[in-house]
Amino acid sequence: MDYLPIFLEVAGKPVIVDGGTTVAARRVERALNAGAHVTVFDPDPGDEVRVFLGHENLTHVARVPVEADFSGCLVAYGASEDPARDALLHRAAKAAGALVNVADEKSYCDFITPSVVEREPITIAISTGGAAPVIARILRARMEAMLPAAYGRLALFLARFRGRIYEAVPNGRNRRRFWENLIEGPVGDAFLAGEEGLAEDRLQEDLNRGSKGLERGEVWLVGAGPGDPDLLTFKALRMMQHADVVLYDRLVGDGIIDLVRRDAERIFVGKKAGNHTLSQRDITDLMIERAARGERVLRLKGGDPFIFGRGGEELEEVANRGIPVEVVPGITAAAGCGAAAGIPLTHRDHAQSCVFITAHGAGGVIDHDWTRYAQNGQTVVVYMGLNALADVARAALTQGVDPDMPVAVIDNGTRLEQQVITGPLSDIVARVAAADLPGPALIVIGHVVSLHGRLGVKGSRSEHDMELKAGHSL
Ligand SMILES: C[S@@+](CC[C@H](N)C(=O)[O-])C[C@H]1O[C@@H](n2cnc3c(N)ncnc32)[C@H](O)[C@@H]1O
Repeated sequence: MDYLPIFLEVAGKPVIVDGGTTVAARRVERALNAGAHVTVFDPDPGDEVRVFLGHENLTHVARVPVEADFSGCLVAYGASEDPARDALLHRAAKAAGALVNVADEKSYCDFITPSVVEREPITIAISTGGAAPVIARILRARMEAMLPAAYGRLALFLARFRGRIYEAVPNGRNRRRFWENLIEGPVGDAFLAGEEGLAEDRLQEDLNRGSKGLERGEVWLVGAGPGDPDLLTFKALRMMQHADVVLYDRLVGDGIIDLVRRDAERIFVGKKAGNHTLSQRDITDLMIERAARGERVLRLKGGDPFIFGRGGEELEEVANRGIPVEVVPGITAAAGCGAAAGIPLTHRDHAQSCVFITAHGAGGVIDHDWTRYAQNGQTVVVYMGLNALADVARAALTQGVDPDMPVAVIDNGTRLEQQVITGPLSDIVARVAAADLPGPALIVIGHVVSLHGRLGVKGSRSEHDMELKAGHSL
């Protein structure tokens, strides 16, 4: 981030806008809305600026500014589209100690103007640091559509109770929870539904209860999906915004961790195949210890916490201590990778059942009966199988599974770096070895793999598949 995001108080303070253009009009409007005393310089301003000329906080000077005009000014905007005027404004305003912004002249800017969504008294400012202002405008349009105007009114309504809330819930952390419960609970619901009286009654009940129940710690076991942040659930995102501490492991990508509430503590608890940074015991103890301190502990896991995520083991101990727990499902790797690679896991013509198995158990590679799994009409999805692929293929072939059975290995599924390697069971090990995949990777065995690259799913083709199409098909 190249800019410091701040909201500047300008109420009653002098702001200069030089120019009579549309851009000047937007600057004038924003400064007036923030309560500034605005002086506009222009010999002949356009209609959009003229609209503001009668405003009590606006002075129009019908000439170009001179150096002396900038004395005492807090913010100066150049919007005349005249290089000579811009240069003078920049020199004079800087000499007067003002913050300067000249439209489309980055070298004359102390600050940039963000795209803004207003829901009085809420202001959301969006900036791309000048990299791609169009993205900021598109995001702004989306937020405008997403945020009901009633949120502004809700903020004003709740502001009336600020002092009483402060008295009823003196502890800072509890007070944050109190506010969260108000806004996202029955009070907010009633207000947004237009029932202000009911909202007020409920708020009064909450005030009477004060801090009661707020100091209790909890553990939330939340699935983060297979890697693409867009595949998080709304609920996961909401809990990531409310947690005090987040315990996460390697499968949860940076793009997802960035969405955690800024002030929440983030603890990496490791877990890469064969390289456990914290033991399962340590992780469970840590969750219990932090919840006992009254914290909201979010255990964030890749995919779904109850599918090869050891979520059951982690929660059992926590629940035994009487700590409240909640589980939020996530998109499991099989579903995410299947979709991203264009491989449906079931299909009327190819697979009427689908099984999820793991190649790894507590004692190492599992000795599966592959003829039971890899059979016509069934898809087998193998988790934690990349390092065991050679063992899996050898065992399956030895047990009599068809050597032509199609197999896909999907590496980093749903992420930008996704790779998909396909081949018959008899050759998949050599193909995957040649690709030197970093993992995590999922193995899909079954005739549905033959649909890969045929369903028009964006991003589902890899260079390797193109080669296959050119010469060696499955
Ligand atoms: C410990 S398991 C966790 C599974 C997770 N709970 C889920 O529901 O997806 C880890 C395995 O999930 C698979 N996996 C997770 N994310 C993946 C991804 N983005 N692409 C491919 N495989 C993935 C790999 O097989 C990896 O070895």
